[in-house]
Amino acid sequence: MAKPKVLVTRELYERPLRLLQEKAEVTLNRENRSMTIEEIMAALPGKMGVLAMGSDPMNAKVLGAGKDLKIVANNAVGFNNIDLEAATRLKIAATNTPDVLTDTTADLTFALILGVARRIAEADRFVRAGKWTGWTPSLMIGGDIHDKTLGVIGLGRIGSAVARRGQGFNMRIVYYDIRRLDPAVEQNHQLRFFPLRDLLRISDFVTLHVPLTPETRHLIGAEELGLMKKTAYLINASRGPVVDERALVEALRAGKIAGAGLDVFEAEPQVTPELLQMENTVLVPHIGSATDETREAMTLRAVNNILAVIRGQVPPDILNPEIYRG
Ligand code: GLV
Repeated sequence: MAKPKVLVTRELYERPLRLLQEKAEVTLNRENRSMTIEEIMAALPGKMGVLAMGSDPMNAKVLGAGKDLKIVANNAVGFNNIDLEAATRLKIAATNTPDVLTDTTADLTFALILGVARRIAEADRFVRAGKWTGWTPSLMIGGDIHDKTLGVIGLGRIGSAVARRGQGFNMRIVYYDIRRLDPAVEQNHQLRFFPLRDLLRISDFVTLHVPLTPETRHLIGAEELGLMKKTAYLINASRGPVVDERALVEALRAGKIAGAGLDVFEAEPQVTPELLQMENTVLVPHIGSATDETREAMTLRAVNNILAVIRGQVPPDILNPEIYRG
């Protein structure tokens, strides 16, 4: 019997790829660049599955080109690139890669916290530029992290992992989420809930861990930045459009906040040019999950979701289980 056909939009780790190839005929993009929408649409007819990157737009038009498509398996935990409504209407299973990247992304978040407050990237630039003339009492003075208040917006898997790291630094953890935890759980884990505006007012570090949805787009804009302490830092390793990047530039320029650590941007890979000129920003290119172990584990997870569909099972990381009802 002919193997089902699967499109993989970007070169991947060998081990998960081999597992997929045992059960499927794989068309793999071996070029070191993303496929264009047109290329994906042209490749989809006849494929039962697509293993897509979080940067591939899996909108209604693209999904509609996959007449035989049964699954779009995202190689990411975020899935704002997939039109879930369209997938559901077309009875295409959509999946993501939760859990396996939680700690790695929380580590990167903490690197941004430490990096921006202790001016690591700026200090590195300073040394490399040959500007260091000797120990100076006032050189590269930053902000402390320990004993400060960490405001976590979105206390899901990654937000919770960041909170645990904060506790290791003896930080006071406050959080805002659309779902409040049971007070007993809050107490056990030493987490305090605050409404968003209050959290912004009291936090020394505000870190974002919400998915990108219509409700969270520009969750942090001029007004919210205006509520933050002048000495506070904004950290974003979630999705760029959660922050109004223009408003962030203005807030940084006006000294309304002390700095920003950003892994994600509104129009990746473009970065608002003013951010590049500022010394109090730490900017990294969407590398939250970028370690060898984690990237391989993510792909394994995406492959397992496709293999489940090939076996006629519900994929473990299904995002639209309603397609299997009725
Ligand atoms: C990366 O941004 C992911 O969502 O996995």
